[in-house]
Amino acid sequence: MYVNAGGWLCFCMVIALAVSVSGKPSTFFEDFKVTWADSHITQLEGGRAIQLLLDQNSGCGFASKSKYLFGRVSMKIKLVPGDSAGTVTAFYLNSDTDSLRDELDFEFLGNRTGQPYTVQTNIYAHGKGDREQRVNLWFDPAADFHTYTILWNHRHIVFYVDEVPIRVYKNNEARNIPYPKFQPMGIFSTLWEADDWATRGGLEKIDWSKAPFKAYYRDFDIEGCAVPGPSNCATDPKNWWEGNAYQALNALEARRYRWVRLNHMIYDYCTDKSRYPVTPPECVFGI
Ligand SMILES: *[C@@H]1O[C@H](CO)[C@@H](O)[C@H](O)[C@H]1NC(C)=O
Repeated sequence: MYVNAGGWLCFCMVIALAVSVSGKPSTFFEDFKVTWADSHITQLEGGRAIQLLLDQNSGCGFASKSKYLFGRVSMKIKLVPGDSAGTVTAFYLNSDTDSLRDELDFEFLGNRTGQPYTVQTNIYAHGKGDREQRVNLWFDPAADFHTYTILWNHRHIVFYVDEVPIRVYKNNEARNIPYPKFQPMGIFSTLWEADDWATRGGLEKIDWSKAPFKAYYRDFDIEGCAVPGPSNCATDPKNWWEGNAYQALNALEARRYRWVRLNHMIYDYCTDKSRYPVTPPECVFGI
């Protein structure tokens, strides 16, 4: 069921990993706290990894202790294996402000055994969301840990799966397109049941006889400007995530991004004419 990415991709990922900048992954409780169902989150390996559990009583969730304004957040996640239909694992940044919410979402939609997971991304800027895109992954995300990253700087927001950009949202404020820039965001994650919509639009229901459902996280890595913190941090052009290398996709990333869009994108709000008869402006200028 999973499409093989081909040797070149694996080769390039090894190279990119070897040269990538990386902070020191911290333990879970250094940067995060449990926000939902303590009993369903278990620390492993002295806090360097955790297990999230979903059963008929509850899902669970956690959040960063701080909010951040610009930076890069990544974690390794191993999703619920086997029959995960109806489950959703989410990893997202959220300003947690009601009226003018900014939010950057990764949502992993489970599936029946052997059917591919879907990764949905969405972007809320200044209170407006409805910017869903969906890709099918080119590997089984429940077989092993993979790295999911959100890079957020003044130029663009990039969602990465391992070293592959799957989504880019550019800062097009010059064209009056809203860009998350004014509010710090916290980092959140949850595992919950959403079988009214998640899998094949809600047709596939969760099979509780397969519970408990478990997802694993490790290598929590946040590099960014914590708020509250030094007030000039977020505008400091010397922050590495604002550097030249991070202002646009490099040639290799651009090639991988095209490859994802050609081979793995299964839904894009930008091309959904029934929903958006007029193409949203960020779709016209943004890709
Ligand atoms: C689940 O599998 C079906 C059949 O392969 C596919 O159409 C669907 O996109 C997959 N993902 C979800 C979340 O429904």
